[in-house]
Amino acid sequence: MAPQGRLITIEGIDGAGKTTLAEGIAAAWPGLTVLREPGGVVVSERIRELVKDPAVEVDPRAEALLYAAARAQLVHERLLPLLEDGRDVLLDRFVDSSLAYQGAGRGLGVPEIAELNRFATGGLVPDLTLLVRVEPAVGARRAAGDDRLEQAGEAFFTAVAGAYDALAAAAPDRIVVLDGARAPADVLASALHAMKLLQ
Ligand SMILES: Nc1ncnc2c1ncn2[C@@H]1O[C@H](COP(=O)(O)OP(=O)(O)O)[C@@H](O)[C@H]1O
Ligand SMILES: [Mg+2]
Repeated sequence: MAPQGRLITIEGIDGAGKTTLAEGIAAAWPGLTVLREPGGVVVSERIRELVKDPAVEVDPRAEALLYAAARAQLVHERLLPLLEDGRDVLLDRFVDSSLAYQGAGRGLGVPEIAELNRFATGGLVPDLTLLVRVEPAVGARRAAGDDRLEQAGEAFFTAVAGAYDALAAAAPDRIVVLDGARAPADVLASALHAMKLLQ
């Protein structure tokens, strides 16, 4: 049976305001199931511990596979059952994060990571993606609480942000770009507007 619920994803660089927006949408939109990536189910939370552990060095290809594995388990165990049950799901990050971070940021190639994720998700594509867009320096400031971007960090986040912009340009019907430089209430209002158009 084809999924009946809608899948809405939130994307953007670190510090863009994704989690803030997810909390705002959850409060304003009853009945929505909100999940974060990587995580949401036991296997994926374990993988999250591994990829988020600063003491563990993970090779970029292994990192891409771990994110894809966490995603595959989430899709199989949680997402598809919810969608097939007619429930709308909001996800804080999904495939586009891997395209931007592993594909562009880590330089593994966006088409290669897209292929990996088609396999992982069985081809599941969000009905709507809310891309919270901020300049890399703004994201870094919000995420780390300071103005500095170290050299490697700056190049990485510039590549990630550029990849998000390219994805949005290539999929204008799915990806709605929200100006994350505005106040949280204004970002939320634009997101809710885009969600209402989906109905
Ligand atoms: N629109 C906004 N304007 C100013 N600060 C914001 C905005 N949205 C979020 N923040 C702040 O920026 C920081 C990062 O927000 P967060 O939602 O955790 O970002 P993300 O989940 O994208 O990494 C938090 O301190 C949050 O309060
Ligand atoms: Mg977050």
